[in-house]
Amino acid sequence: MSATIISGKVVSESILHSVADRVKARQAAGKRAPALAVVLVGQDPASTIYVRNKRLKCEATGIRSLSYDLPETTTQDELMALVKQLNEDPSVDGILVQLPLPKHLDANAIIEAIHPEKDVDGFHPYNIGRLVLKMPLLRPCTPRGVMTLLETTGVDLKGKHAVVIGASNIVGRPQALELLLARCTVTVCHSATYDLPGLVRQADIVVAGVGRPHFVKAEWLKPGAIVIDVGINRLDDGKVVGDVDFEAAKDVAGWITPVPGGVGLMTVATLLQNTADACDRLAP
Ligand code: GUN
Repeated sequence: MSATIISGKVVSESILHSVADRVKARQAAGKRAPALAVVLVGQDPASTIYVRNKRLKCEATGIRSLSYDLPETTTQDELMALVKQLNEDPSVDGILVQLPLPKHLDANAIIEAIHPEKDVDGFHPYNIGRLVLKMPLLRPCTPRGVMTLLETTGVDLKGKHAVVIGASNIVGRPQALELLLARCTVTVCHSATYDLPGLVRQADIVVAGVGRPHFVKAEWLKPGAIVIDVGINRLDDGKVVGDVDFEAAKDVAGWITPVPGGVGLMTVATLLQNTADACDRLAP
């Protein structure tokens, strides 16, 4: 058996088109385009690539992109002052501070300082709380993008056993909440979990977000499972691979996302979707 490939490229392009249509419709109605402020502190190579991509996709959809590239030496007070300025600027709809921040900065305090209605990453405790309470406002981009991919399979998620591998604030935890909202039975695994292969074997849906290349083995999977690979790992030879051993897993899974060309593209497209949503609320 060979799995159906869930193409993040196809699905993300359709999202980008619909965001571009929303921007055009706003402008045709005499309203301003949405605006997203993207803040990068320092020069982490992966973050630099992700941020460039976010800014390019803004341009492609007609969203106004405001770039703030700050030096590694930026202080907490300076970053807080920028967030405050962007919070108060009525022409800005979304504020994204790229993570990870340099070690001397307190990322939680920065996230908490972002106005919840401009928190297009969905990381603010207010937005996470709304997701917990089944009343989501701005939803974290990667987990929301994963749910969009799952929808494209046409599989009814209700009652399915979803196993999330990884419990990070950015992926695993909000992913578990999204799957619960979709009425899945959810197991969250992490580095202290006993018998990970045994749990994954029970999964109808596996979402892997651990940041370790080829960590999830084909032998762990239930035949026909939906396998969503959130990992983006760069090997020494420069090749980018996911957290799942794709080549072997595709012969066992029913559906699987590739890396690259899977969830990564969805994260960016969903960010722009969130920005358009924020703009519609803040500047209707
Ligand atoms: N670093 C890795 N993923 C993300 C993300 O989705 N948002 C932000 N702000 N930083 C990240």
